[in-house]
Amino acid sequence: MATILAIESSCDETSAAICIDGIMRSNIIATQAVHQKYGGVVPELASRAHQQNIIPVVQEAVAAAKINKKDIDAVAFTRGPGLLGSLLVGTSFAKAFALANDIPLVEVNHMQAHVLAHFIDDPKPAFPFLCLTVSGGHTQIVLVRDFFNMEIVGETNDDAAGEAFDKTAKILGLPYPGGPLIDKYAREGNPLAFPFPEPQIPGLDFSFSGLKTSILYFVRDRLKADPDFLKNNMNDVCASVQYRIITILINKLRKAAKQYGINDIAIAGGVSANSGLRAMMQEAAEKYNWSVFIPAFQYCTDNAAMIAIAGYYKYMNKDFASQDIAPLARMNF
Ligand code: KG4
Ligand code: ZN
Repeated sequence: MATILAIESSCDETSAAICIDGIMRSNIIATQAVHQKYGGVVPELASRAHQQNIIPVVQEAVAAAKINKKDIDAVAFTRGPGLLGSLLVGTSFAKAFALANDIPLVEVNHMQAHVLAHFIDDPKPAFPFLCLTVSGGHTQIVLVRDFFNMEIVGETNDDAAGEAFDKTAKILGLPYPGGPLIDKYAREGNPLAFPFPEPQIPGLDFSFSGLKTSILYFVRDRLKADPDFLKNNMNDVCASVQYRIITILINKLRKAAKQYGINDIAIAGGVSANSGLRAMMQEAAEKYNWSVFIPAFQYCTDNAAMIAIAGYYKYMNKDFASQDIAPLARMNF
């Protein structure tokens, strides 16, 4: 039996999960509402909220899993990438817990964990597969050869896809995080109402900053001509922006699938919660003969369950971290 306690604190979600022999028993997430009024995550406030949340969240995860603290065999934690002050809270907690209970410590890379979220529930992808990992900080196409043998074959040159959603939302006067709100308005809108340009970036890399600028100018010009433009066209603007972001992502995935001769395609990260992306991936599965893997909603945005499953596989490999480990704001695979 292997019972893993996992901690995630890389950004603005404090989360703890319990996994027993690879089966998820609990996954508690405390979202920090404090950032909403600032239009983005304020690192200083995030660390403070993690500090307040971490013990209650762990206690809730242990209680929900109906286990005793003494049953825990290892503690896994997010080492990076992320906000340093936020990571320090989770790392320090994990170290103290491991030391106090005399159990091993397991470090987890947050981006690898997003990919490994596909191994929480069935159906699980077979190796090798391609994973589009799209979050607030990252946009990557990952060639996944094995659990911890991953290669980034394409990534963004500037903004991440989640940032493109969030920055567009800001331009449209919507609160942070804007991705889910754009998704909501887009459901009622026409995706072809306002054609935004698709950037021509060579290879498997992405760029979203040009799109952001074109949306900014588009909205500015329309508002000049008609102050009620956004009020009357919010659904169509959101649908059009979302459509462009998604087609950029899917077109690069098609290119990657052809280049590597791989038809098993997964999506992961916060933006994989987007209903338009999920629907277009299902269409792509039919059109291009792909086997598509889409995570359950609760495992798309930041959560400790993905840290727990990654930690479980590392624990089985006896891949333990030492007590002098430090978190990393930037971290490669
Ligand atoms: O993975 P995640 O929770 O945190 C990071 O590691 O960054 O991703 C957060 C990002 C935010 O940019 C948020 O706006 C975006 O995921 N997001 C969405 C949706 N839900 C979350 N973007 C578009 N549509 C959604 N439904
Ligand atoms: Zn994330």
